[in-house]
Amino acid sequence: MKVLNAPFVQGFMRMADDGWQQGWHERNGGNLSYRIRTEEIESVREELKKDGEWKEIGITVPAMAGEYFLVTGSGKYFRNVMRDPEDSICIIEVDQAGEKYRICWGLVNGGRPTSELPSHLMNLEVKKLQNEKYRVVYHCHATNIIALTFVLPLKDEVFTRELWEMATECPVVFPDGVGVVEWMVPGGREIAVATSELMKKYDVAIWAHHGMFCAGEDFDLTFGLAHTVEKSAEILVKMLSMRPDKLQTITVQNFKDLARDFGVTLPEKFLYEK
Ligand code: 13P
Ligand code: ZN
Repeated sequence: MKVLNAPFVQGFMRMADDGWQQGWHERNGGNLSYRIRTEEIESVREELKKDGEWKEIGITVPAMAGEYFLVTGSGKYFRNVMRDPEDSICIIEVDQAGEKYRICWGLVNGGRPTSELPSHLMNLEVKKLQNEKYRVVYHCHATNIIALTFVLPLKDEVFTRELWEMATECPVVFPDGVGVVEWMVPGGREIAVATSELMKKYDVAIWAHHGMFCAGEDFDLTFGLAHTVEKSAEILVKMLSMRPDKLQTITVQNFKDLARDFGVTLPEKFLYEK
């Protein structure tokens, strides 16, 4: 099969375009990665090149040894993924030590995988070790989440609780909550380690004054997660724009009732009395 006809590539491109249409990917903002299944990589094997140069990832991901990933290119625009995928995205293979990668398909006009590759691979590794089904990591510059990082304390408890309160389905969609990373230089090992620590506990990590990372089992779940978090952030921004306090809200008891009826466990640390 041609790479571009493979369903996982089609799903990846659709998600990138959905993110662009939401306004979360100005210029080259954001990046996306997908851990390819064995049968999926076999289905496109004929089109993969084997002579790419091995390059350092910058971190070590032993559990990713020998795996293949579909990732966006560094400096590439989500806006162009659908129109010119071979220029914008690539398939990479990770070596047996989990230290190097090589490009097997795509980026036909040159370039390299996203500068956030260390964060993507470390997050995918953390998730794989917890749950083999996790395959997608998504970084977007969602406007309202970024805005909130200027006015809310950068604490997991505060972001989780405030987002949960803004939309009833939030505690059901992300019952584990969200984590927050204070401002850090993007693109390197340090922010990758900090984010992957949060990914041990959550499926969402917010980067202060920058954007968010989401992880999930497939494109629908991961995009839906980012969409739900950002929608909730938008409601909070609107609410705070009207007045600084709430006349009424979803209470701690409401959350407990919701958790019981929907069969989710909500960590006590988010159910504090204000
Ligand atoms: P890349 O173009 O290297 O993916 O970087 C975009 C970005 O959002 C960095 O955080
Ligand atoms: Zn970014």
